[in-house]
Amino acid sequence: MDCLESSVRFDDSLMSNEFGSVDALLTAMGHKRFSFPTIPFIMFLSAFHAYGQLDYNFYDRSCPHLPMIVRFGVWAAFRNETRIAASLLRLHFHDCFVNGCDGSILLDDSLDFVGEKDAFPNRNSVRGFEVIDRIKAEVERACPLTVSCVDILTLAAREAVTLSGGPYWPVSLGRRDGLTASQQAANQRLPSPFEPLENITAKFTANGLDQKDVVVLSGAHTIGYAQCFTFKRRLFNFKGSGKPDPTLDSSLLSNLQSNCPNLDSSNSKLNPLDVSTGYMFDNSYYKNLVSNTGLLESDQALMGNPGTAAMVNDYSTYPFHFASDFAVSMMKLGNIGVLTGQAGQIRKRCGALN
Ligand code: HEM
Repeated sequence: MDCLESSVRFDDSLMSNEFGSVDALLTAMGHKRFSFPTIPFIMFLSAFHAYGQLDYNFYDRSCPHLPMIVRFGVWAAFRNETRIAASLLRLHFHDCFVNGCDGSILLDDSLDFVGEKDAFPNRNSVRGFEVIDRIKAEVERACPLTVSCVDILTLAAREAVTLSGGPYWPVSLGRRDGLTASQQAANQRLPSPFEPLENITAKFTANGLDQKDVVVLSGAHTIGYAQCFTFKRRLFNFKGSGKPDPTLDSSLLSNLQSNCPNLDSSNSKLNPLDVSTGYMFDNSYYKNLVSNTGLLESDQALMGNPGTAAMVNDYSTYPFHFASDFAVSMMKLGNIGVLTGQAGQIRKRCGALN
């Protein structure tokens, strides 16, 4: 009961701030949120309580303004560029899938290791480092050498989703920053849009997640952008056939072909991952899959397997199922391979070891 009450209190303190409330903020910014009963839902989530030595109240005494500082930092970045929400969410995912959530993705190359920033799935693709660095600098001013970069990134990802109109979930804290990074591990462990569902699922399973988490967390593609090269083969030469992907809706196909002409020069052009509501964290990603308008091959592949297709259909019909399952899967994601206690360190700067 104790932990349940404390996580609700934690939530309450975060739901209102100097800007009024998240709802007021969203209304002012013209956004709507999923409407579902927040408090009972969070009480349900708190049953998952902290994993290992993580704790919802970890910084309550040592850095009481942490949630506000992170919230303000993400909000300021979001006000400047809405896409940053998607980028922060993906940064968190790419951190956690490579040797656990340890802030390794934030590390620059050093004499001892080649970092993850330049790994194939990350190079010229992952974004948001400067937002985390800015928030970290603020946090260091308020509470020096107290809060890990990985906890800041985990909180920032949650704030990003909530600001985009998605669900809220309690984040347990106390992760410590890792002492190394691995470009090789990033190349091997992060999923590629060109690999089959079984391989992607295997990469999730290797991290303690399951096929449901694949379907649920892929719903993150309801916000953000992809470069043309990540789906171009669907448009012109699908699996060496010399023809487009036959599962791709024909009107989307012609739009994409004109935005991504079959030339190398179009490779880095951007398209919204969710072709209907690109900035809104809603369930339209799943509606798109049902109508054959998913962007990535790996997204549309969720309709090619009876088990995953059934989940897609459910989320396309019931936005609340998606919102609540997404919150649960994000809590699982944020707890992968965390370092606690005396392991790792609290970095002073997120880009380098102390
Ligand atoms: C299931 C396997 C997944 C694959 C194959 C995949 C692949 C990709 C690719 C290729 C892009 C576009 C990158 C670019 O063009 O630069 C992308 C973007 C994105 N991914 Fe995924 N992804 C997967 C799962 C996830 C998960 C689990 C999350 C978060 C929980 C996520 C969040 C995002 C977001 C938010 C973006 C947009 C980022 C931005 O606009 O900056 N993805 N993903």
